[in-house]
Amino acid sequence: MALVRIAVRALSSRAGRMRRELGRRTWVAALAALAGLAGMLLLPATPGYPFPWSIDMFRGEAVQPLEVAPRVMPAGTLPVDGTPPMSLEKMTLSLHNPLKPTPHNLAHGRELFTNNCEPCHGASGTGDGPVAHLLKHKPANLIRGASKGLPDGYIYGYIRNGGFFMPAYGDAMNSEERWDVVMYVRQLQRGAGGASQPRQAAAQPAPAAK
Ligand code: HEC
Repeated sequence: MALVRIAVRALSSRAGRMRRELGRRTWVAALAALAGLAGMLLLPATPGYPFPWSIDMFRGEAVQPLEVAPRVMPAGTLPVDGTPPMSLEKMTLSLHNPLKPTPHNLAHGRELFTNNCEPCHGASGTGDGPVAHLLKHKPANLIRGASKGLPDGYIYGYIRNGGFFMPAYGDAMNSEERWDVVMYVRQLQRGAGGASQPRQAAAQPAPAAK
């Protein structure tokens, strides 16, 4: 019994020593932390500890968009031919076809028309293209429609700006290519009635050389 009592006393005195030791260590740690924090507060300019670090990014040097002049674009990178953007009305009245309906220009116009316009307006231009049945608003008849009696600038402007239901094709071809298409549409209009002529041409296999 006595032995047990001695053991318990020894153990409890050891625990007390440990508790005291632990307490001292906690104090030392707390003091060290406080000293460290005070040091950071007192030396905010030290590069290692800029305080408060949470707004470093905000305080940092921020280069705003376009603050530094953009690099100069090498000449010829951006095509700037053609005419500035205009309304359809303005193009109808002020633009005139500068090109001649040479066989080469007409062939190019037909190729562009086949790729870009035929799906809706049809090979003959009457508005019966292969996707026309999918459209709620039917493509215009280019042979007997308003465009026949209007200046070239109207068709040019319609290609470039599109219409209420027609997408714009300004980005699909450049200014000269648009005039090529206009000349080809004029040819279709002149040959209207003989509308089967371009249809036959379209049905033929593509010529090997262009
Ligand atoms: C996605 C179908 C679609 C394509 C492709 C398309 N058009 Fe149209 N186009 C229309 C529709 C629909 C109209 C009727 C008016 C409108 O909605 O703007 C129209 C109207 C026109 C008009 C005005 C006709 C008028 O009587 O006032 C012209 C000119 C015209 N298109 C030319 C072209 C040319 C040239 C191309 C090829 C570069 C072309 N379109 C490609 C759907 C199309």
